[in-house]
Amino acid sequence: MTEIPEHLLNRSKARRDAASGDGASSATPAVAASSTPAATTPAKPAEAPKPKAVEPDPAYVVAAKTRRKIPFWAMSALSLLPLWAGVYLLALTPEDKVVEGPLSLGTAVYSGCAGCHGADGAGGAGQVLYQGETLKTFPHIEDMLNFVYTGSQKYVAAGLATYGDPNREGGAHKPLGYNGNPMPMQGEKAGGGLSEYQILAVACHIRYDLAGADPEDEKWATEYETWCSPESEIFKALQSGATSFDTIAKDFAMLEEKPIAVGTEPRLGSSK
Ligand code: HEC
Repeated sequence: MTEIPEHLLNRSKARRDAASGDGASSATPAVAASSTPAATTPAKPAEAPKPKAVEPDPAYVVAAKTRRKIPFWAMSALSLLPLWAGVYLLALTPEDKVVEGPLSLGTAVYSGCAGCHGADGAGGAGQVLYQGETLKTFPHIEDMLNFVYTGSQKYVAAGLATYGDPNREGGAHKPLGYNGNPMPMQGEKAGGGLSEYQILAVACHIRYDLAGADPEDEKWATEYETWCSPESEIFKALQSGATSFDTIAKDFAMLEEKPIAVGTEPRLGSSK
């Protein structure tokens, strides 16, 4: 076994320490400190820079270090990107078509009738509609649609003495029989401003919201389902133009309760 001299061991340790950059813990300064504190201290740090003469950074490290960084203020904007993407996607998704049934549409249309008939249908310049009155005049909604479409004057012109149920409880209603004033025509072909689906909607509103017909009542359940519910095929077909007051009886002849021809010309009404 060869004996390695002490000074060689010390030197290799000092080199190792210096190479690892940990000069402070090296044994040499400890020895130096114990012998000549002030004199050797300045000499030691002079050796320290040696290991700093390391090879230059490889090109890719230089590139990474010198590359322009994302400015800090941009981070807030960038962090909002996912949210922005979400909003963008939402905007692209087609809006769910709002289901507007006859009753809600009819409520809006009725604002054009309320001036004469009263907001609740109590009447005024126009006939009383609430508390079942409309239902007595028109046990069939088809006859009501026809009358609202054409108006009183067409009935008079056609020589019809009554409108609605001729056997109405309390007497059949006569055109111009209320206060001598006409119910103005509403349908487009008659010169009014309402589409057929709007006339159906307002008739539904009058019957089910004002006059008191109850969709749950056996007496009205079928009519409600067929004409006035949000699922009403007739309402949808009128809206899309697939049917019309003139063709409704034919187009919906397959229904269990076959519709009466509504028509756009004045005609006599029917009893239940
Ligand atoms: C300018 C006033 C006026 C306006 C507006 C008006 N009406 Fe009338 N309405 C009348 C008059 C008057 C009568 C009575 C008709 C008659 O005697 O010939 C009447 C009768 C009716 C009747 C028959 C009621 C019954 O039992 O005899 C219905 C249904 C009706 N109107 C619905 C409507 C609807 C729906 C609107 C709106 C789209 C409307 N009216 C707008 C004046 C009006």
